[in-house]
Amino acid sequence: MCGIFGYIGSKPNASQIIFEGLKTLEYRGYDSWGIAIQKQESIRQAQDVSRIKNKGRIEIEKQVGKLPAKLFNSKFSTLNSQLGIGHTRWATHGGVTVPNSHPHLDCTDQIAVLHNGIIENYHGIKEKLIQDGHKFKSETDTEIIPHLLENYVLNKKMSLLDAMRKTFNQLNGLNAIVAINTNSSEIVAAKNGSPLIVGVGKDELFLASDSAGILPHTKKVIFMKDNEMVRLGSSVELFSLLDGKALKPEIETVSWDIEQAVRGKYKHFMLKEINEQPLIIETIAKSYTNKIVELATIIKKAKGTFFIGSGTAFHACLAGTYLFSNIAKHHVNTAPASEFNYLEDFLTPNSLIIPLSQSGETIDVVEPLNHAKKKGSTIMSIVNVLGSTIYRMGDHKLLLGAGPEKAVASTKAYIAKIAILIMLSYALADKLDEAKRLLLQTVKEIDRLIKQPSLTQIKKVAKFLSSKEHIYVIGRGGAYATALEGALKIKEVSYIHTEGLPGGELKHGTIALIDKGTPCIVLAPNDETHDAIISNATEIKARGGVIVGISSKKSPVFDQWIEVKDLGSPLITHVVPFQLLAYYLAVIKKLDPDKPRNLAKSVTVK
Ligand code: F6R
Repeated sequence: MCGIFGYIGSKPNASQIIFEGLKTLEYRGYDSWGIAIQKQESIRQAQDVSRIKNKGRIEIEKQVGKLPAKLFNSKFSTLNSQLGIGHTRWATHGGVTVPNSHPHLDCTDQIAVLHNGIIENYHGIKEKLIQDGHKFKSETDTEIIPHLLENYVLNKKMSLLDAMRKTFNQLNGLNAIVAINTNSSEIVAAKNGSPLIVGVGKDELFLASDSAGILPHTKKVIFMKDNEMVRLGSSVELFSLLDGKALKPEIETVSWDIEQAVRGKYKHFMLKEINEQPLIIETIAKSYTNKIVELATIIKKAKGTFFIGSGTAFHACLAGTYLFSNIAKHHVNTAPASEFNYLEDFLTPNSLIIPLSQSGETIDVVEPLNHAKKKGSTIMSIVNVLGSTIYRMGDHKLLLGAGPEKAVASTKAYIAKIAILIMLSYALADKLDEAKRLLLQTVKEIDRLIKQPSLTQIKKVAKFLSSKEHIYVIGRGGAYATALEGALKIKEVSYIHTEGLPGGELKHGTIALIDKGTPCIVLAPNDETHDAIISNATEIKARGGVIVGISSKKSPVFDQWIEVKDLGSPLITHVVPFQLLAYYLAVIKKLDPDKPRNLAKSVTVK
């Protein structure tokens, strides 16, 4: 949550570079934004960053709402600077206002700070700072940081780096903090829990909460680990927050391409990412064999395997339990990651935890993994982002290979997770070739679904649903996981209350809500669940409900029908109509499908 971007280097337009960087990170939070630049008295001509003349001041621009298309109207459009930091906020402490947006300043306006995370012990520190005469301008927990730094830098004459270490170690919680000041040419940052990545360019350095922000400039990155601190000046210097000792930075190369991180010809990232799915599945089917066989061997040996994930990733976990049961006859447990803390008393050193995560940063996943590690259990991370926290926590690791996912609602990362789970379950049953054949057929079917005439039918159903206040989605077996994921997709981007449930559960309560005209989307693959789910649809129809069927065959009970071919599993192809329904519902309702209200892409606070 919250996007952080920093720049120091030879180019004179730091504010523009930071603004563009923030645009690539806006999916992390878009309540408000702000940039601070160090305005030097004389801009250096030389390439050597250390020669910047800096007796300057800090200039700040902060605004509520999403980033504008261009920086033109900002005072920054005419200011030159080679050093600055910027932030997109997802509010935690304090409302969405200009004073609460970052960067925050100390009493003397000489130190500017950005923060991602929650400072759990800020109340006491703030009271003490107020007693000591510090003046606060916001309701945030963050604002204590510039005032603490002020005490150390201005009163105790410490370097910004030493002051950062002193300050950071006083704070409880999982945080990433970035600071600049007026009298040193450096960006100083520290982290535990929230991600921070350093980009290493030619004569320039970047700092961002996600490598996607750095990609337009360089593929060379340093993934900061927890309890590390960095100083970006004429070079990158890395230190331990624990003892202050210097560490050797490890430079890695990101494999993603810049084209993958831009919208291209598509109006929204969500539509682009839905359209990328066939290629992602094909790549998994064709090139993941060795890694899948290796992981399947580890799963076979484990005594107790648990899938954990949050939101969409949890739905993939649930889908995995059906796949492992049906295909591999292999028992696995699952729970939403935020519940796993309360369920893990039985973990042993022989247990295997498989976290599924797009961002690799979700705190609800990281926490139970920390507990599992303490119990000696093995972790097999399946994540999309190289170098992310969950990736690094894995004893065994597999990258999803979905490329950067920018729309807040996850689509292609979900499909990649399911494709990998299909490969794993067939590998456990020693039938990997069958999985590859199935996935390649899936590629063709998804390709058909995202084109005409299928699109026209999906748009027609979206138009019908757009005036509704409630939608129900039912499925049985693996299609239950699809029902949950489909309902989540629709609700999060269209704001229509949508509930997914197993068809058999309907008559245990929810059927009380079915009334004349209530829409119910019914997943009716031609498998063992077909007859029972059609009976459920008939029960809904008898109470006035309107049935939208998703199946290969049209049933007389359907009022509307979206055709999806049966390919052995409703877990992958049947999700795609929901993604498109959600997208078109948002478009029809004039909402931004890429940035739904109140959500952020990477959930790094509890
Ligand atoms: C929904 C969505 C979220 C994420 C969840 C976990 O479309 O994107 O439910 O799936 O926040 O995120 P990751 O996969 O990054 O751990």
